[in-house]
Amino acid sequence: MLSERKSTMNFGVIGFGYWGPNIVRNLSTLEGSRVAMIAETAPNARLRAAKAYPQIPVTADTNELLTSTGIDAVAVITPVWTHYDLARAALLNGKHVFVEKPFTSNSSQAEELIELAHSKNLRIMVDHTFLFTGAVQLINQLMDEGTLGKLFYYDSTRVNLGLFQHDINVLWDLAPHDLSIMDFLIKSEPEAVVATGQSHLNGHEDIAFMTVYFPDNVLAHISVNWLSPVKVRTTRIGGDKRMLVWNDLEADEKIKVYDKGVDITTQEGVYKLLVSYRSGDMWAPQVRQVEALREELAYFIACINTGQEPINGGPAGLRVIKMLEAATRSMEQRGTLIYV
Ligand SMILES: NC(=O)c1ccc[n+]([C@@H]2O[C@H](COP(=O)([O-])OP(=O)(O)OC[C@H]3O[C@@H](n4cnc5c(N)ncnc54)[C@H](O)[C@@H]3O)[C@@H](O)[C@H]2O)c1
Repeated sequence: MLSERKSTMNFGVIGFGYWGPNIVRNLSTLEGSRVAMIAETAPNARLRAAKAYPQIPVTADTNELLTSTGIDAVAVITPVWTHYDLARAALLNGKHVFVEKPFTSNSSQAEELIELAHSKNLRIMVDHTFLFTGAVQLINQLMDEGTLGKLFYYDSTRVNLGLFQHDINVLWDLAPHDLSIMDFLIKSEPEAVVATGQSHLNGHEDIAFMTVYFPDNVLAHISVNWLSPVKVRTTRIGGDKRMLVWNDLEADEKIKVYDKGVDITTQEGVYKLLVSYRSGDMWAPQVRQVEALREELAYFIACINTGQEPINGGPAGLRVIKMLEAATRSMEQRGTLIYV
């Protein structure tokens, strides 16, 4: 009997800077995909690409890639201010698009791309890499199973020294990770945002604090900073039954679930402060060790093949941009409450 032959998805990758090589490495080794062309405007990056992948054509002319009939899908791995033009050109040329976070520079660009993809029956995936980590998958499972109970808060610290970006502030650089994770885990749209931040060196805010109000008294807070002496990637998530701490820099025991909380038995107890503090066990569930980007790209290929809308498609990218826009407006007014 003849076995069913799967066709190979031909990718064009635009941008071979810091993150682009990870995309090329995965797409050229995943089953069901190959990299047909790399486009890069910087000569030194083109040299690096040609040396690492002598079999892949590397072009300085991005248009050549965008219009190539041998390419089914385009990965846009360039700075955010270029995402809209490149993604739009790819869609107009009939190609599916994998685009870096943050999706676009503003929400009207994102809305236009979503509409364009819809009208041409093409898929967009925004690189919200963290959704595909073992840690976020496990937290989602714990929340779905009710392990944490009713959600109270999401509180995250994502700080390090640099890497300073030339075109965006620290909020647009680092907060999309937490905003996409929150969007995935909390599963409801935010109501309002408060943000404060300050620039000290290159005119872009290098430290920022963002608070997001969700329905049902769920509060989220993110601290992002390019001027931290130490790298911290720690998230606390609290519910009425249990709480967890996710330390992404831990090799083992990334997630610790604490059977801790506050019990109030009667309404009267609230006023008389008759609360009891529960301090039970802590356990560290096994976190699956996977390369998130690889899982994500395999999922993108599957979504293209099946016509399924990815969980991190254009609409998810747009929800993150709307939160960033609200935060930007709030930050400009030194922390005014902005409704999303
Ligand atoms: N998902 C993640 O975890 C993650 C991690 C790092 C970066 N990123 C995102 O990836 C994107 C790129 O970031 P980076 O750190 O790799 O930036 P980078 O500046 O190191 O690389 C971008 C490359 O794109 C090239 N380029 C720019 N415009 C081009 C065009 N029109 N045609 C061809 N090449 C072009 C530049 O020459 C550069 O080499 C950003 O949106 C960033 O937010 C995501």
